[in-house]
Amino acid sequence: MDLKKILEEAILKIENIKTTEELASFYQEYLGKTGKVTDLMKLMKDIPNEEKKAFGMEVNNIKTTLHAEVEKKNKYFEEKKILDKIDNTKLVDLTIPSSKKIKGSLHPITIVQNKVIDIFLSMGFTVEDGNEIETEYNNFEAVNVPKNHPARDMQDTFYLDNGQVLKTHTSAAQNRIMKKYGTPLKAIFPGRCFRNEELDASHENTFFQIEGMMIDKNVSISNLIYFMKEMLTNVFGKEINVRLRPGFFPFVEPGFELDISCPYCGGKGCRVCKQGGWIELCPCGMIHPNVLKMGGIDPDEYQGFAFGLGFSRLAMMNFDITEIRLLNSGNIKALSQAKIK
Ligand code: DAH
Repeated sequence: MDLKKILEEAILKIENIKTTEELASFYQEYLGKTGKVTDLMKLMKDIPNEEKKAFGMEVNNIKTTLHAEVEKKNKYFEEKKILDKIDNTKLVDLTIPSSKKIKGSLHPITIVQNKVIDIFLSMGFTVEDGNEIETEYNNFEAVNVPKNHPARDMQDTFYLDNGQVLKTHTSAAQNRIMKKYGTPLKAIFPGRCFRNEELDASHENTFFQIEGMMIDKNVSISNLIYFMKEMLTNVFGKEINVRLRPGFFPFVEPGFELDISCPYCGGKGCRVCKQGGWIELCPCGMIHPNVLKMGGIDPDEYQGFAFGLGFSRLAMMNFDITEIRLLNSGNIKALSQAKIK
């Protein structure tokens, strides 16, 4: 019996095996209970004694060689399986920017607020914080709105049990800031304000303003016009003209309504400015002597201007938002559609 040939044939077969199933049946054919190698062992008893040892060793050699070959092939199949899987997996390049980027952004009010703050900081103003809960004195009396003054009607607010109020305007911080800094003074103070309002598309119970004050010797209306024009031109990113019309506010004398040339049509007249070319934007004026006095400042020596700009309004204009209630809605879907002008 040519044992060598048996081994050679077996090895050749193994080399040609392409699948794990073929390998399994090869195993059965040679190394299984009734396999060829097992059968060879059974022949032992018929082998003459003097050849038994050599025969046995040879058969054993075939057995271990084939076991090793099967093992090798098995390993090869296992590795191939993994490699095939890798080949078939679409490789992910983690450095490619994702196509669907959901980017957060600041709230329209915050964006406009930051813009205005930056501009005023660059013009030498300090930025102050105001309280949301104020004393009635600061909110009204200190800005020349005594008890029973009709102006209180327009600023009905939420009164707390301790007599304090939710501030109705950023002007409520004027007195504290004058007392804190004295003169000369250049400050802005943004803040959230509250009023007991009938709600509609342009009236909210909660809204944002920014107040500004400049007090020094020889401050005039020209200074007011200059700073407002500069700030608004920067906010809108285009040349904005301003004009003043008389307006009454108890804390300023004279008081004005500041209009801006319509940023949409440049003043030619359009739907937004109702063809007039101007949009009413911001009340302002020269600080009333009583207000200066209550702030500890001598009105014979110092003058100042003040303005109270509605941030909600400005944000709506900047972002083309037509419904004020959207600003406090937390409705991300709607807010994210707000497009900056
Ligand atoms: N505080 C006023 C309001 O909310 C706005 C205002 C008007 C502020 C004139 C001012 C000013 O500083 O000078 O209605």
